[in-house]
Amino acid sequence: EIKEITGSQKQQLAKLIEEALKAAFPDVSDVQPLVAICNDPRHGDYQCNNAMSLWNKIKGKGTQFKGPQPVGKAIIENIPASEMIESSSIAGPGFVNIVLARQWIAKSLQKMLIDGIATWAPKLPVKRAVVDFSSPNIAKEMHVGHLRSTIIGDTLARMLEFSNVDVLRRNHVGDWGTQFGMLIESLFEEFPNWEAGSAPAIGDLEEFYKASKKRFDADADFKERAQKAVVSLQGGDEKYRMAWSQICEISRNEFQKVYGRLGVHLEEKGESFYNPYIPSVLELLNEKGLIQESEGARVIFIEGKKIPLIVVKRDGGYNYASTDLAALWYRLNEEKADWIIYVTDVGQREHFEMFFAAAKRAGWLPLNENDYPKTSHVGFGLVLGEDGKRFRTRSTDVVKLVDLLDEAKNRCKSALEERGKAKEWTAEELEQTAEAVGYGAVKYADLKNNRLTNYTFNFDQMLNDKGNTAVYLLYAHARICSIIRKSGKDIEELKKSGAIDLAHPDERTLGLHLLQFAEIVEEACTNLLPNLLCEYLYNISEDFTKFYTNCQVVGSAEETSRLLLCEATAVVMRKCFHLLGITPVYKI
Ligand code: ARG
Repeated sequence: EIKEITGSQKQQLAKLIEEALKAAFPDVSDVQPLVAICNDPRHGDYQCNNAMSLWNKIKGKGTQFKGPQPVGKAIIENIPASEMIESSSIAGPGFVNIVLARQWIAKSLQKMLIDGIATWAPKLPVKRAVVDFSSPNIAKEMHVGHLRSTIIGDTLARMLEFSNVDVLRRNHVGDWGTQFGMLIESLFEEFPNWEAGSAPAIGDLEEFYKASKKRFDADADFKERAQKAVVSLQGGDEKYRMAWSQICEISRNEFQKVYGRLGVHLEEKGESFYNPYIPSVLELLNEKGLIQESEGARVIFIEGKKIPLIVVKRDGGYNYASTDLAALWYRLNEEKADWIIYVTDVGQREHFEMFFAAAKRAGWLPLNENDYPKTSHVGFGLVLGEDGKRFRTRSTDVVKLVDLLDEAKNRCKSALEERGKAKEWTAEELEQTAEAVGYGAVKYADLKNNRLTNYTFNFDQMLNDKGNTAVYLLYAHARICSIIRKSGKDIEELKKSGAIDLAHPDERTLGLHLLQFAEIVEEACTNLLPNLLCEYLYNISEDFTKFYTNCQVVGSAEETSRLLLCEATAVVMRKCFHLLGITPVYKI
């Protein structure tokens, strides 16, 4: 009897192996099935690596087995009958190599085409996650570091959402701090007619920030007035609150331009939101004996760290750490999140390690890293210019992100115009394609690297239509769509009436790899590594090229099957684009 099993291909295989282990070794408890993709595809598709460790467990205890090889054999003999497996064999000291059945791969692809790729969503042990990303600081510029955080965070949120996790996309903007004293004071002094609720008087907020900072540093009287302004603001003075919220609004509108272009959705809960929670949260930590006095400040000592975590400054004010502790408390207790993910540059790693450790000491988080609720810091490297230094544009210290995205789009538009698309397409089509490709290229260039490494920002490279770029991949997808279109066949009809057969080895390889989609998304999610998905997407397009080079599609005897394989490839590629926040294009 064949049981219906669900989950990714690898999970399904693991279940079969689990049953084999139970049947062959009923006396050995607690053996997790170890299933991995075969390193060498000539040996099989997957391998089971349980034999060696099992042998070490049972040898010398009166077992009938004579070594790891016979242990491997016993596993093979006990794998339940399944249409999934074509054959299994033993190699070396007990590795079990498994070849999947071609028909099973074909059937799984067909099922996905009919039921939708959502049926391939991984199942994660998480109900609700907070993804804290982007998080720029009000009145200061949103720099390329925040762009990286925005792009990486959005992808992680998309992958979790696809896996049916309830995701709270949080923009932890820096909207609460002493810089507001000088900003508000400048606003009042430079615009004496300012009234609460009047239209924003400040033109360029960054310039305004720089000018106030200059004055703050040079003019002692102004500095004192600015410090008093902080007290008034934090004391809840209505006029100061209004000025503060107006300044925040100006920044928010600027940030929104970037989010709009990138198609990124975020919900703002800035530092100010958690401010009222800080005193009671610190009290909770104090009751547990975590907080100590040190050089006039209140601090938490962390094992293995020389410098403690400051939670109340010497002047009695709160800081970044006290806010993050309150926010963590809120996310765990009010929002009931079981996974809280923070996306910032690696330079902040110490800060996160410190307050995560404090939360563990307080008993908010389990001591074991793998248990839930869990916190993760997703660090990333710097964005470098071609000179190998921190990325800047020619004229200014910082890069205006909006300009950068516009440039990517405009370059794509020119490239399309050069290829005569302005005549072939409507203005709207041209615009939309340039946007999809341009913004997609910026995102992909960032995501394809291991996030911990620094990466060099280079328009020519990211906009190249050859190599591992979004441009190449988007065009590859569009080409597949055009093959299907030009066949003149109704693909919806074929899905119902036709069947996939993977007789050619290049068809089988492509089909097998398409089925690995769920495993890859799961791995990318679990390890918070979007580059795994990029790598997968690129490999799929390579597999497709190989298949298309060696197998005639339109007009061949296998046309129906091969068109369906084209469609399955397009569906998987599209889902990858979607998870990476890239808009697919259908025409080139
Ligand atoms: N505003 C901070 C910065 O620009 C990032 C905040 C990250 N999130 C957090 N909960 N600390 O560096």
